[in-house]
Amino acid sequence: MIFFTSLIVFASCYYDSEEELYGVSTCNNNTLTYIARIAPLMTAKCITCHDVASGNSVILETYTQVKDQFTSGQALCAVQRDPGCLAMPQSTPLSSCDLEACQQWVQAGCPE
Ligand code: HEC
Repeated sequence: MIFFTSLIVFASCYYDSEEELYGVSTCNNNTLTYIARIAPLMTAKCITCHDVASGNSVILETYTQVKDQFTSGQALCAVQRDPGCLAMPQSTPLSSCDLEACQQWVQAGCPE
């Protein structure tokens, strides 16, 4: 019993330090679908400037719109802040967790 208890304590300490290392409180990229992961990310980080009301030429409100932007390479270029496109979001870069979510979602073929 003591062995198991110390295992749990050790595991949680290890997890804490990993969080500190990446500066992310919760990184959960286990379910990389549009609905589970990408849509909430767009809502939190992109939609204020990219909904229909914004008048922006890039709209990121639906699965098809987001998928098109990411498969064209344009949105990945933007969030990776690569040269040759506008860096997005403009002020604060995505966390490494959010960035990995975008990259892995595209690699997986943008599952809905
Ligand atoms: C503070 C406002 C703002 C936020 C937040 C924002 N964008 Fe943008 N985004 C813009 C503006 C303004 C443009 C330029 C649109 C144009 O040229 O018509 C743009 C352009 C883009 C483009 C086209 C890039 C290019 O090089 O032409 C993409 C793709 C894009 N945004 C994706 C995103 C994604 C994905 C997010 C969230 C991770 C995001 N944006 C967050 C304002 C924003």
